Amino acid sequence: MVERVTIKTPQEIELMREACRVTATILDEVGDIIKPGMSTEEINSFVHRRTAELGAIPSPLNYKGFPKSVCVSPNDVICHGIPAPFVILKAGDIVNVDVTSFKNGFHGDSSRMFFVGGESACSDEARELVSTTREALMVGIREVRPGKRIGDIGAAIQDFIRATKRGYGIVREYTGHGLGREFHEAPQVLHVAKRNTGELIRPGMTFTIEPMINAGSARTSLSKVDGWTVRTADGSLSAQWEHTVLVTDSGHDVMTSSPKGLF
Ligand code: MF3
Ligand code: CO
Ligand code: CO
Repeated sequence: MVERVTIKTPQEIELMREACRVTATILDEVGDIIKPGMSTEEINSFVHRRTAELGAIPSPLNYKGFPKSVCVSPNDVICHGIPAPFVILKAGDIVNVDVTSFKNGFHGDSSRMFFVGGESACSDEARELVSTTREALMVGIREVRPGKRIGDIGAAIQDFIRATKRGYGIVREYTGHGLGREFHEAPQVLHVAKRNTGELIRPGMTFTIEPMINAGSARTSLSKVDGWTVRTADGSLSAQWEHTVLVTDSGHDVMTSSPKGLF
């Protein structure tokens, strides 16, 4: 963890764009192949292969001992789900796929939710949670411009989630983060925060916003079995969307936006 915020030069930003483009391309492709009956291990194999084909390295592999190339987190898994052949996706599941690619010396980190078997296979509760969480990310991104503070992002997300009056919980233990040459750098990007607090947002900063929203309690539970998988404490569904964002002179640029125009 780099302690101070790094400001990227225009040259560094161009290099980092390529890592972000690889990540977005792979997520687009995951959307095309994901289907009922597939194991999360198969998603891992796919992401691993495509990452290599696109000239990149999967950042999660061996990161702090993480054993796979991508995090795949279905239903009540909040984040850091470890792909396995015995985790089989079924119609009606919602699943987060979190891809981070390393290329040109830089990381690009993004995650999306997928409806297994299509949106119509999933419950109204699941669809509402997924779309609200996506909107929460967009609300956070909209805060990003020079002169604002990092705390404004979490404050906006918190206000938005509260206004839905759905009783959703915002996860606090895991946060967005700066990234660039390191997978996780300063600043920490809280999804629950107070306005006008935290690091001043400056051009050239690159960081993720990645709200995790639970249909029930915000409380989390870390697996004692594998030491990675984070679940909702009450077994409720959880959703997450993530983008890598660049601060520009006039606002922001979503570096991991889909080349296909998806989210
Ligand atoms: N991609 C995750 C994030 O958004 C981090 C995964 S760490 C891993 O920050 F080790 F689980 F891969
Ligand atoms: Co991620
Ligand atoms: Co991240």
